[in-house]
Amino acid sequence: MSPWASPVPTLPCFSMQGKVCMVTGAARGLGFEFCRAFLQSGCTSLAILDLKDSDCRDAAKELSTYALDTNGLQKKEVQVIGIECDMSSEASVQNAYEKVMDTFGRIDSVVASAGIVENYSALDYPADRVKRLYDVNVHGVFFTAREAARHMIPQGGGSIILVSSMSANASSLSSIPLFPLTSSPVKHMAASLAVEWAKDGVRVNSLSPGYMLTKLTKSLLEKNPDLKKTWESLTPMGRMGEPEDLAGAIVFLASDASKFVTGSEIRVDGGYCIV
Ligand SMILES: NC(=O)c1ccc[n+]([C@@H]2O[C@H](COP(=O)([O-])OP(=O)(O)OC[C@H]3O[C@@H](n4cnc5c(N)ncnc54)[C@H](O)[C@@H]3O)[C@@H](O)[C@H]2O)c1
Repeated sequence: MSPWASPVPTLPCFSMQGKVCMVTGAARGLGFEFCRAFLQSGCTSLAILDLKDSDCRDAAKELSTYALDTNGLQKKEVQVIGIECDMSSEASVQNAYEKVMDTFGRIDSVVASAGIVENYSALDYPADRVKRLYDVNVHGVFFTAREAARHMIPQGGGSIILVSSMSANASSLSSIPLFPLTSSPVKHMAASLAVEWAKDGVRVNSLSPGYMLTKLTKSLLEKNPDLKKTWESLTPMGRMGEPEDLAGAIVFLASDASKFVTGSEIRVDGGYCIV
């Protein structure tokens, strides 16, 4: 009898059992939820990356406990490690991958979820902040994906998921100034890298959330509470998304369930982009 507590039968190809996963920006928000989804789907080897060492360690501890409670495993059967990393620095990203390889020996599924949002209008955006926005949200995602492929290609393949946004599909969809400026390149980067690495067995897809309730959006809503009503009224399903609404899509893209899917975008937006 399997030690896994889940009594719900499901397609085996959705299982994350035996897969080594890495999620960036995972100390909180969507990244943290992606980790929970992987652990709930059977992953027992997980690396979480974020800016501050203490945040990484706290999140790793919480996720480890979650895995033990959810799946009824013994402590020695689950390994969740936290790694301090600034995704905008290529050296820092390479260093983090080395730690993952030293610990687990391989890497199967990587999610690039680290990102920042700032509330400036285009006319007021300070030049150094625009550069930082690109450094984290575009260059950081590229470093994450390229380093993943460098490790996955020799081992025969893997799955990379780049977190974009529904606003990649039309700038007018975003009430956050300049948000599409970085979500669009991320969506197209996924398609472009997918073509380059397809023959090597490395799949690259993008996941585009609608407005989800995380610290990132909460900080914007604190400054402008009316935005929530606007976002809800523009969403056919009539609500903002909860981070766990992305669980099914992220497990699909990371697992063998999507083994013939590459270069695709999955939008999870309550119908916001339907025109
Ligand atoms: N929340 C939404 O509504 C929403 C919608 C569409 C897209 N997104 C995208 O999803 C991603 C995650 O968003 P979220 O809502 O979880 O945000 P969040 O602010 O709650 O979490 C982002 C995490 O990334 C980390 N981070 C930031 N810069 C980093 C860096 N240089 N190196 C390493 N880690 C860094 C932060 O410390 C934080 O833990 C972002 O790319 C965001 O643009 C979010």
